[in-house]
Amino acid sequence: MSHDDQISNKSANRPFQEVLEVNRSRRSVMIGGLSLAAGGFLSSSLAFALPGAGKGSMGAANGVARKSSIDFTPVPVAEGSGPMPVISADYQYQVLIPWGESLKAGLNSYEGDADKRPTAAEQAEQIGIGHDGMWFFPFRRSNTRGVLAVNHEFGRNSHVLGKNLPDSLEDVRLSQHAHGMSVVEIRKSSGGAWSMVKGSGYNRRIHINTLVEFSGPVAGSPLIAPEADARGTANNCAFGHTPWNTYLTCEENFNGYFGATGDWEETEARARYGFTSSGFNYGWYNFDSRFDLSSEEYPNEDHRFGWVMEVDPFNPDARPVKRTALGRFKHEGATVVEGRGGRVVVYMGDDQRFDYVYKFVSESNWKSMRAQGYSPLDRGTLYVARFNDDGTGNWLPLTMDNPAVAARFSSQAEVLTFARLAADAAGATPMDRPEWVSVAPNGDVYCTLTNNSARNEADAANPLAPNPDGHIIRWHDTDQHTGTDFSWDIFLIAEETHGEGDERTFSDPDGLWIDPDGRMFIQTDGGQKKGLNNQMLVASTFDNGEVDVRRLFTGVSGDEVTGIAVTPDRRTMFINLQHPGNGDPSLSSFPAPPGSGRIPRDATVVITRKDGGIIGS
Ligand code: FEO
Ligand code: CA
Ligand code: CA
Ligand code: CA
Repeated sequence: MSHDDQISNKSANRPFQEVLEVNRSRRSVMIGGLSLAAGGFLSSSLAFALPGAGKGSMGAANGVARKSSIDFTPVPVAEGSGPMPVISADYQYQVLIPWGESLKAGLNSYEGDADKRPTAAEQAEQIGIGHDGMWFFPFRRSNTRGVLAVNHEFGRNSHVLGKNLPDSLEDVRLSQHAHGMSVVEIRKSSGGAWSMVKGSGYNRRIHINTLVEFSGPVAGSPLIAPEADARGTANNCAFGHTPWNTYLTCEENFNGYFGATGDWEETEARARYGFTSSGFNYGWYNFDSRFDLSSEEYPNEDHRFGWVMEVDPFNPDARPVKRTALGRFKHEGATVVEGRGGRVVVYMGDDQRFDYVYKFVSESNWKSMRAQGYSPLDRGTLYVARFNDDGTGNWLPLTMDNPAVAARFSSQAEVLTFARLAADAAGATPMDRPEWVSVAPNGDVYCTLTNNSARNEADAANPLAPNPDGHIIRWHDTDQHTGTDFSWDIFLIAEETHGEGDERTFSDPDGLWIDPDGRMFIQTDGGQKKGLNNQMLVASTFDNGEVDVRRLFTGVSGDEVTGIAVTPDRRTMFINLQHPGNGDPSLSSFPAPPGSGRIPRDATVVITRKDGGIIGS
């Protein structure tokens, strides 16, 4: 269970109020109308004449093998509901870097003993909890050695501390050190097993008390002053990785760590970001005034979270840098793709009910920007998406050049710090909780919309009201990701997989990755139908009709399956089990065996095909 499903968008953005019969049948309308939209935007008469087959039209293979080969034995529905993971009969798995494993040789690891929890100092040098987004950075294209960067999104007090509220600053520090992220060197032994290289110079923990820097338009602004001692990253959800080999870690539900011991200013902006006087009951603010909204000591601390932070996994001495040009909101992920002219484009979801999809486009070619000493992530334009009901869409600039935005703010630093409010003003489309984004080989961009049980008015892009099980939307931008227009359709509606006897069943799509052959990996976070635990499935993106969806893996009771990384040869995949048993050993003791009484520990799971094949094949 997470807290990312609340509503704080009280703006009146309902661009589709006049839409008449928008409902699930919209999906087939959209698929039928796709070639028209694609032809109109992409100037391809071929796309118009041959639906789905034209250059650049959505769902077309574009030179990639027309059929993405998915040929494994799926995990049957009946088997995926126990206290331990289940994987396809054609695959095998092992556990790597569970919560509490020491990064150093000679330092204790925590192994799930309820009576002997780590100290705060120990936790600062151990793997954190809440494994989420991650990426594998190989040494020279190696398939057996590299550095794994892993987010530690959250761990509830009941799981980390064994009680609901901290009793001391030591308790708060333990909780804080379990958050953040880890960078660890890992290697595969000649026997095939993966392990952390303890004591590697690359191993590093980044957490709530790690010194960080700000860069981009908000750096130097009074909104985040004083910056000299700025510290910390929180609720690190999904991720991105850049063409220059760095890692992006994304701060999602940062508001939940704040609270107030006294009177505090409940501004419109704070309400829009979901701040309350008790947050998500972490209780940090009772012992650490940084998280006390009523403290005069740290008046800008709330503005220092909610960013995308860049980490160089190969330079453990480099401070992490918050890239403010990417805006401040509840960042799910930051998917980077190279666009026209070598500009970098970053697609980002803001995961809350009725919040938005964003993209950032760098000012110019990333290599030349770096050669001139600029980060491509510091100079560029942030946009928010409007999905029109006719299958077209527009990227609305969040800049002072946009009159709707300028009417409300006095500087670009304000626009970015209060990006949600700027997006409200610009007229963005409220979505059903945008989570991960992945880009297919043909340039189609897919985004999971995990669910929205509070929607009572459907629109074309969010066609179910309510939408308890979620859907996957896709779009195709003009100008190789850099343009301001797009065409879109709905790829898949989760509810349509629940039919009797339908083994594809899944709900609440969240983690998403499309491999270079067009295989889509879908991970879930939410109550699954038919008694299933959360799971990872593989789907084909090339079918315009029935989508082939097969279950590769199921997690354990109470968990969430999230995080996807691969070795360069894609014959090893890393995924994460987050909050197994929701911390309750009566549900699961993973990775320890059921009945052992061990506190369950979040961990990475390494997946290989028994025949050594490409994962998902
Ligand atoms: Fe951290 Fe929206 O998942
Ligand atoms: Ca989660
Ligand atoms: Ca997620
Ligand atoms: Ca989720």
